Amino acid sequence: MRILLTGGAGYVGSACLRYLLANDVEAFAFDNLSEGHAQSVPEGRLIVGDISHTGALTDALRTTGADAVMHFAAATTIDTSVTDPDFHYRNNVGGTRSLLNAMRAAGVRRMLFSSTCATYGLNPETPLREDSPQMPCSPYARTKLAVEWMIRDFADAYGFGFTLLRYFNAAGASADGTHGEHHDPETHLIPIVFQVALGQREQIKIFGTDYPTPDGTCIRDYVHVDDLAQAHLLAIRAIESDTAEIYNVGTGTGSSVLEVINACEKVIGREIPKTIEGRRPGDPPALFASAEKIVERLGWSPVHGTIQAIVESAWRWHKQHPSGYAN
Ligand code: UFG
Repeated sequence: MRILLTGGAGYVGSACLRYLLANDVEAFAFDNLSEGHAQSVPEGRLIVGDISHTGALTDALRTTGADAVMHFAAATTIDTSVTDPDFHYRNNVGGTRSLLNAMRAAGVRRMLFSSTCATYGLNPETPLREDSPQMPCSPYARTKLAVEWMIRDFADAYGFGFTLLRYFNAAGASADGTHGEHHDPETHLIPIVFQVALGQREQIKIFGTDYPTPDGTCIRDYVHVDDLAQAHLLAIRAIESDTAEIYNVGTGTGSSVLEVINACEKVIGREIPKTIEGRRPGDPPALFASAEKIVERLGWSPVHGTIQAIVESAWRWHKQHPSGYAN
């Protein structure tokens, strides 16, 4: 199998690329480096290009001899999708349409798509299952849901196999300390807590303490990025020409914002300054997964089970790389 990973220089994409290579799968990243980091991609594995350029993407699929695609490239911040939905629709919906047409042109017939638990949005079910109704509550989540449907429609009409992985909150860093999370600007909870610990920010702002959850803060299901990578390899190996599958990828355990901050403070060894702010636009109150299906059907076996283990791995990375991939 030879795989092209769009967005393969991003946080989750590059973790998957490294995991595939470590498991003897030929794989290449295709990334415009608008958010990704060339340093996160092993040497000789990066093709710089933008998914909106169907021709360049078709060439990349042909020259790499790809027979499958993992599609990570996307605009992913929820609050900016509220203020600038055009950017998200252009990148996520327009970009995926370009990719699907490049796949048709190059005769690539297998696709794994990075969808998200955010498509379940305001659905109050806990845990969320693959057949739980999707109630997205941000433009970002709606672009991902739109793409899910576009992939189904293209697959039906033009004939290819696909799997949608709806993953929960990717977090953590590699055990060898060489791969971790670095966004610029950073918007994610765990890296921001560690930026406060490293003196790069004054405090962690807690966005909302009036949610209908036990401590009033949002609940998410944090899944280690290397466990996500394992799920990607298992899922892509299982895609046949007529596969049309959906899997949640999460741990089944929800952690509130306050619980995550407490877990981080334990590994840091002290409390960090906090302020209570209003809700962040577009944030769903609580999302955690039922991952039974991927465990039963594909034998997924996450190894970083607890939020404590996840934040410990993240803290090692942030301590050693206070400026992320810049050092
Ligand atoms: N949060 C804070 N303060 C911060 C940052 C975040 O309180 O400074 C809160 C958020 O409001 C949210 C939780 O921490 O309740 C997690 O926020 P993140 O930004 O870390 O992650 P999100 O849940 O917003 O989004 C992430 C990815 C999306 C993905 C989504 C699935 O960015 O791409 O997980 O829930 F779709």
